Amino acid sequence: MIKTTEDIKEALHGRMRALWPSLPIRSGVFISSPGRVNLIGEHIDYNNCPVLPIAVDKRIVALVVAIPERSVKVADLDPRYESIEFSLEEYERLPEGLVPFKTGHWGNYIKAAVNELLSYSLKEGQERSVTNLSTGGDHVWECGFAMVFTSTIPQAAGMSSSSALVVLSTLALLEANDVSYSSFEQRLALADICRRAEWYVGTKGGGMDQAAILMGKNRNAIKISFNPIDAVLIPFEYDIAVVVAHSTVEAPKTREMMDAYNRRSIECTLAGLIVAKILQNRYDIEHIRYIGDITPSKTGLEQSVLDAIVTDVFHEEPYQIDEIASLLDMSTDQVNRRYCKRKDGTQFPMPIEGFKLYQRFYHVWKEWRRVERSEQLLIQGDIETFGTLMNDSHASCRDYHEVSCSELDMLTDIARSAGALGSRLTGAGFGGCAVSLVRPNDLAAFTETLLHDYYGRNMRLDRANAEHHIFVVHPSQGAGRIE
Ligand code: GLA
Repeated sequence: MIKTTEDIKEALHGRMRALWPSLPIRSGVFISSPGRVNLIGEHIDYNNCPVLPIAVDKRIVALVVAIPERSVKVADLDPRYESIEFSLEEYERLPEGLVPFKTGHWGNYIKAAVNELLSYSLKEGQERSVTNLSTGGDHVWECGFAMVFTSTIPQAAGMSSSSALVVLSTLALLEANDVSYSSFEQRLALADICRRAEWYVGTKGGGMDQAAILMGKNRNAIKISFNPIDAVLIPFEYDIAVVVAHSTVEAPKTREMMDAYNRRSIECTLAGLIVAKILQNRYDIEHIRYIGDITPSKTGLEQSVLDAIVTDVFHEEPYQIDEIASLLDMSTDQVNRRYCKRKDGTQFPMPIEGFKLYQRFYHVWKEWRRVERSEQLLIQGDIETFGTLMNDSHASCRDYHEVSCSELDMLTDIARSAGALGSRLTGAGFGGCAVSLVRPNDLAAFTETLLHDYYGRNMRLDRANAEHHIFVVHPSQGAGRIE
């Protein structure tokens, strides 16, 4: 059983040596990339509204070696997984860039990172830094990399194991080409690059995961804002355990799952555009594009006025595309072409019931306020009230954004009755994990209740199979080199 970082390093070395004996392994560097747990602010980052996650101590650790022949070779430490290899030249040869592996293949997260970085270059003579990258111009990517990695982040659990891999692969290519990324500004710029990179695999995510993974700090939560991207550390040093419990319902990134996620993103975009149209027509306010733009500073209107405006905009019945088109002064064809396409260019399947604009907007608007309030509460140290906001957030994810599932609802109910100050789904939802705040003195009884009531009675798992589904996480350091 591998335990310490030294053991892991040794094992990574061993596997790299066995796979590619001719590489200069001694020149390699170790990089770690954490998973994240979102404390509050769910499904609002793609509206450019702020979120409040932590990077955690479940992470990927990798050994990375620069190789001059412009290829990328990557392997999991576990030899049961096949290694992958591709050439950087493929990007330059093909107009569409790197050709993806089959849908769902982990190698696509590596390709996503490399494909995105290769679209940037650095002019001769400039310092090699992420903030000096620009689109077009001379390329800088002389070297590829070989990488062996191992991960303790549970997969398909809503803890961003895939974004951790994207960030890791981005850092690998930067390291291999001596491009610096360690300052605060460089990391923020990189978070934006990594967010765009993930569109390669087909999810139109916001930027929360990549920013949390890059900006994380020990003993701190991070408030991440967008447009422009920013990160503010909020000390999180309470006598409280952050407990993650897997519902055991996997939420893999299948096409249906991506459609379900992207549907929310499309609904929110359309809702934001409709409010923007009203602000333009009634108040002459321009340049509002996302729900997150509807702020006093961007509109010149007070928060109470904005609240009053938005409560009247939507009716509760779902909207058909022709009604949306007429509200936006567009043809249905224009709305379809601009906002309802998948990444592969195919038409997004219209929900037969219509788009739930009222419900989605309501969730985003209220969840955003909860994030702002949470920031204040955490600064004041009022963890109890923060817990109640987590509970409200779960209810809103369940009832308005409809991203929970019956197992997560049951799990969070049991967690609350077992003494959690707050409990909610974390991440994209539709399965995956719940996060709960538990007082250390209550932790043993809390765990027992979950093992018995949720995993035993409801999921029919015996203790041995259930125990690894519950674990405590700590706010941890973001991705980077480890010595
Ligand atoms: C996924 C996405 C994030 C965010 C969450 C939901 O993790 O990658 O950008 O939208 O879902 O909050």
